[in-house]
Amino acid sequence: MNPCLLGIDIGTSGTKAILVSPDGGIVGSVTRTYPLHNPKSLWSEQDPADWWHAVVASVRTLMEECRVTPGAIMAVGLTGQMHGLVALDQEGEVLRPCIMWNDQRTHEQCAEITGLVGEDRLIRITGKPVLPSFTAPKIAWVKTHEPHVYSRIAKILLPKDYIRYRLTGELLSEVSDASGTSLFDVALRTWSDDILSVLDVPRNWLPDVSESPVVSAHISEQGSKETGLLQGTPVVGGAGDQAAEAVGCGILSEGSVSVAVGTSGVVFAATDSYRFDPAGCVHAYCHAVPGAWHLMGVMLSAGGSLRWYRDTLCREEQKIAEEAGVDVYDVLTSSAAGVPPGSEGLIFLPYLTGERTPYADPYARATFFGMTLRHSKAHMTRSVLEGVAFGLNDSLDLMRRINIRFEAVRVSGGGSRSELWRRIMADVFNTRVQTVNVSEGAAFGAALLAGVGAEIYKDVKDACARTVRIQESHEPGEAVEAYRRYYGVYRTLYPSIAPLFQVLHEIGQGSAD
Ligand code: XUL
Repeated sequence: MNPCLLGIDIGTSGTKAILVSPDGGIVGSVTRTYPLHNPKSLWSEQDPADWWHAVVASVRTLMEECRVTPGAIMAVGLTGQMHGLVALDQEGEVLRPCIMWNDQRTHEQCAEITGLVGEDRLIRITGKPVLPSFTAPKIAWVKTHEPHVYSRIAKILLPKDYIRYRLTGELLSEVSDASGTSLFDVALRTWSDDILSVLDVPRNWLPDVSESPVVSAHISEQGSKETGLLQGTPVVGGAGDQAAEAVGCGILSEGSVSVAVGTSGVVFAATDSYRFDPAGCVHAYCHAVPGAWHLMGVMLSAGGSLRWYRDTLCREEQKIAEEAGVDVYDVLTSSAAGVPPGSEGLIFLPYLTGERTPYADPYARATFFGMTLRHSKAHMTRSVLEGVAFGLNDSLDLMRRINIRFEAVRVSGGGSRSELWRRIMADVFNTRVQTVNVSEGAAFGAALLAGVGAEIYKDVKDACARTVRIQESHEPGEAVEAYRRYYGVYRTLYPSIAPLFQVLHEIGQGSAD
């Protein structure tokens, strides 16, 4: 049996397990989904037991379907949704559902933490301001609102690290995911005693951290019994989904930049030293590559905007697509391709779930701006694609402003499959846009990290050199100038209407009482 590497991604909508051969070939891939719960407005939770069942089912099915014997799996790499709070008691039992990365309930706690630590100090140490997505305000929320839970906390884990615990029995994390907690000293790649003491979070609640490609644990007897993996199989630190996805696209050192268009949209720039944005608009993290860091800007609804649009406004197109046996996204984008760049002045502001970069505003909302009688469904579709590209360009611009230089942007994720969207991005970014040969995202990057741990590759650079290649490339074209002007309008739009988002929120609160 040929050796292979297992990557497991604990995603927001499901867990994906993939087997990768050392040359980067995908041996097989299995996904198992689970629900996302929104019990109250602004809340977003998941049951860690659902993740575990999905891991067991996907790994077992994958090995069966690929006819891979457990002994052929050289190492396991974990990745997943970042920032989520999994709280365990003394016995290692989960105390409450995970409060997830896209949960927005902790606005007040963020203000408290900022007051206690100070904005500048937070940005300098943790690489970013504290936002509702991150872990520290979730801990503070539990302290205030669920004291019965808080008093029983013995350990705090991130989502993929909970899966490591179930697989290996070890309570561990690694530097890239730990960087998203607001408790980590990103320059020093260790927990910040300074911040922990100000926030009164006990150090022994937090797991020890390793670098991402390092073997830090092995499959336990129990983990083996449940998943069918061989006891003793090495498990590397792995990485948060963004760092792992970047590894899978070969974004490892300064000058390389990627944009991942999934539900969220992530602009990712690798850096060779700890660089942070003093204004805190783009965020600094440790990279999954030892000795490297990265900057990141996150749009909360990128592909999510198009999905919402499809599900809410495009029933008819869905029917047409079903009848013709084609993808509804192809139906939508082919009509949008006939609309001129700029959608004849129709601009979509993509803040369907609030925003993180460039405006950290949980109350921001989406809007179609500039609608006239001339505008058709095709215009609306195109303006959604363009609005997302403008939002991504906001992050690229912030990086340009702190002297991050790049000549191309590698795009990945579901949104990168559309040629029209890639062309729009090349024109809006005014930069070459490339795709790479692998489209398995974070799970692939996690498998490469496992390969480094298993010593199949010398290091992460070697892993990418042997597996990742450029596939397609689009140069910016004639529409650059039109987009430059429309982008000017887009950028002015949010600041002009932001106070009204707050008012809408307050009215909503009033009617909810
Ligand atoms: C990264 C982030 C999301 C989640 C879920 O900061 O919040 O990418 O990791 O994918």
